Amino acid sequence: MSFDEMDVDTIWMDGEFVDWDDAQIHVLTHGLHYGTGVFEGVRCYDTEKGPAIFRWEEHLERFYDSCKPYDMDIEYEPEELTEATLELIDREDLASCYVRPIAYFGYDSLGVNPEGCPTDVTIAAWPWGAYLGEEALENGVEVMVSSWRKHASSQIPTNAKTTGLYVNSMLAGEEARRNGYAEALVLNKEGNVAEGPGENLFLVRDGELYTPGLSESILDGITRQSVITLAEEMGYTVHDNVSISRGELNTADELFFTGSAAEVTPIRKVDNVEIGNGGRGPITEEIQSRFFDLVHRRIDDHDEWFTYV
Ligand SMILES: Cc1ncc(COP(=O)(O)O)c(C=O)c1O
Repeated sequence: MSFDEMDVDTIWMDGEFVDWDDAQIHVLTHGLHYGTGVFEGVRCYDTEKGPAIFRWEEHLERFYDSCKPYDMDIEYEPEELTEATLELIDREDLASCYVRPIAYFGYDSLGVNPEGCPTDVTIAAWPWGAYLGEEALENGVEVMVSSWRKHASSQIPTNAKTTGLYVNSMLAGEEARRNGYAEALVLNKEGNVAEGPGENLFLVRDGELYTPGLSESILDGITRQSVITLAEEMGYTVHDNVSISRGELNTADELFFTGSAAEVTPIRKVDNVEIGNGGRGPITEEIQSRFFDLVHRRIDDHDEWFTYV
């Protein structure tokens, strides 16, 4: 859905709440030219106890961590960004929404050297439904192994959520959609499975869960961390530091994506080959159902993962 069709009117920009239409930047902004920004994507759920941001603290920590390789200095304290976000959601009267903090080198000069460019910070929030569609949550998506590879972490820090990295995600995702698939799966430079363009991957085999390790060129997804914890609490063994070869995708019993946007989305086919029963697998369904019960606060566990608005 386009922003024009949404009932949203405010953005927090460099310390102030501004009208949505006035949240503008200069065309010679460093981050626009060189992809030198870092960002987060966070969901706020409409829960039985009011709107609650899922794992805000962890997202905020990753936000500041993402700045480190770029020597980017956010001048606001985490508490200020938290306060701004809570007030933004309140001002916009949003119950469930997606929250997008972004920090980037701003306008000063356009050498690749960002010296002198300010670190500008903005937080926006807007309503957002299921990323890959409601139907996908139930029946799964068909994915294509992309011909594009992920950056190696020796080329660009893949554990930082950097705007420039998402050119690779866009290429992979668009290639998949052009070929009739809902989403891509991207291999790393070694040819092992890394992740989706905006999702981590889990594989189920013989009742145990596997997910590529942090050195496989993946983002250390917060939904990934949450699902590992939930699955272990449910009694599953989770192997979270493995390499997964391309062929193992086809022989998996189940596959699913995790992400703040994608939540827990089953994968039913890879390159037109059915995975398991060709729909949402039983363990995926169990974990997905636990995840949704938790984020909507229908179960009380892990209240520490929530920041109530
Ligand atoms: C490349 C990539 N991998 C994985 C994820 C999932 O991370 P998270 O669960 O923290 O949203 C995302 C989404 O932010 C992503 O962009």
